[in-house]
Amino acid sequence: MLLDLALWLATPAPWRHRRLGYVRESVLLSGRAWRCRRAWAPHAARSREAVLRACADLARRREAVVLGSGPLADVPLRELAAAFERVVLVDAVHPLSARLAARRLGNVRLVTADLTGAGDPVGALCGSADLTVSANLLTQLPVVPVDGYEARGLPVPERLGAEIVAAHLAALGRLAGRVCLVTDTEQREEDRAGRVTDRLDLLFGVRLPSAPLSWDWELAPFGETARHRRLVHSVRAYPDWAAAQGGPSLP
Ligand SMILES: C[S@@+](CC[C@H](N)C(=O)[O-])C[C@H]1O[C@@H](n2cnc3c(N)ncnc32)[C@H](O)[C@@H]1O
Repeated sequence: MLLDLALWLATPAPWRHRRLGYVRESVLLSGRAWRCRRAWAPHAARSREAVLRACADLARRREAVVLGSGPLADVPLRELAAAFERVVLVDAVHPLSARLAARRLGNVRLVTADLTGAGDPVGALCGSADLTVSANLLTQLPVVPVDGYEARGLPVPERLGAEIVAAHLAALGRLAGRVCLVTDTEQREEDRAGRVTDRLDLLFGVRLPSAPLSWDWELAPFGETARHRRLVHSVRAYPDWAAAQGGPSLP
């Protein structure tokens, strides 16, 4: 608790992002990532592999942009920094650990931005990127906006989550460079006998095409949120998002 408060105070962020709750979410994420590091390791490794697969055949490697870079657990940062002239990490909050990691590499820049903000922030930030990675970000985008309504005791607009998810996918779809999408899609709650006790659609009804890569991410092992329940997320990865939709596959 005290450590969370210290981290909340020490994490640099614009006041607006702090007030909306992005810093709080970032601190909670770092805490859970640390506690669940063993359970999360296979997911992080497979996410990093998907990103490396996305750039393996790219002819032009001037700029890579990572959206939702956060604590960088899913991002093969050293490899990207070696493969591209420059790497841009975009998040509402860059934790201290990510800031340090970026500083150690000469060609990595941090951009603090709200990717649900007005206009087309994805287009503005990734328009000239040869590779854009949406790194386990998609289902996190609605979290703070939905919480904002709930915190004020207001009804959450029925389509809010779906609109935010669809808008991010549409923005990725407009990019000319290679796009790698890694996202969780569904949460399953399981008991110790392996029975599914609850399911939650993390995409608010938005459907994704079948993915070349998919796996389970044990988000909360037994004991993390409940003694006899665990939470498992289904994850899909598209090293070439345009190709997965039947669109043009860029060199
Ligand atoms: C599950 S984490 C991603 C993990 C990260 N890719 C990694 O390698 O560890 C989701 C990230 O999305 C960011 N995020 C959530 N909503 C955002 C928004 N509206 N704009 C920008 N970043 C956002 C959070 O700050 C968080 O770092």
